[in-house]
Amino acid sequence: LARGVTAPDLAGRHVVVSAGGTREPLDPVRYLGNRSSGKQGYALAKAAAARGARVTLVEANTGLPDPAGVDVVHTGTAVQLREAVLKAAADADAVVMAAAVADFRPATYAPGKIKKTDDGGAPTIELVRNPDILAELSADRALPGQVVVGFAAETDDVLANGRAKLARKGCDLLVVNEVGERKTFGSEENEAVVLAADGTETPVPYGPKEALAETVWDLVLPRLRERTT
Ligand code: CTP
Ligand code: CA
Repeated sequence: LARGVTAPDLAGRHVVVSAGGTREPLDPVRYLGNRSSGKQGYALAKAAAARGARVTLVEANTGLPDPAGVDVVHTGTAVQLREAVLKAAADADAVVMAAAVADFRPATYAPGKIKKTDDGGAPTIELVRNPDILAELSADRALPGQVVVGFAAETDDVLANGRAKLARKGCDLLVVNEVGERKTFGSEENEAVVLAADGTETPVPYGPKEALAETVWDLVLPRLRERTT
């Protein structure tokens, strides 16, 4: 599809995109985090806006400037991101979870900075599971026919792990990236396979995150529920 002039094929649609990586505070000066830059999520949000959608971008810790024409909600932790995504998803035609959500958070938050002790010991940090937002969105669709998309970064058995994850999460599409030394995190380029619940696989060659974003919306489009207005 030529995109010199963008077709407004998402006009009248509301889409929600999450981006970035959550940070789970341990004490006032420390957190557990990850290396997601947020660039893929921002590319998705910008592409949808250019295609005419109303876009809610729920970001976590990206430090990126708010894209023009996009409603941006700033969050920090997985619990906060979940709140914001579920709220925005209530009337959304599609939800794309591009954020890297921490699987675990510290079981307790130390209100004062954790200090070293004189005995040379080190603390053991107890973790608890965070809610799985993608699984929740997929299981309890806010609207019938709402399209739910996940992302997965895998290091080994990329396709097999991706297929299993798609089934486990219950989403419609799963964008699977192979993570390596130079791939994905913080980079401008991406290579992926988009797995669909209907069994189709769409390889996306190594290229800019903007191109992957367009492919994701191209795959969401035919899966959108019929327009009610
Ligand atoms: N995700 C989510 N909530 C979580 C963890 C992940 O919504 N608590 C979403 C991510 O936004 C992503 C997808 O689930 O779209 C896949 O994330 P990934 O970390 O690959 O999946 P996990 O189920 O956490 O599996 P793993 O054990 O491989 O980390
Ligand atoms: Ca995970």
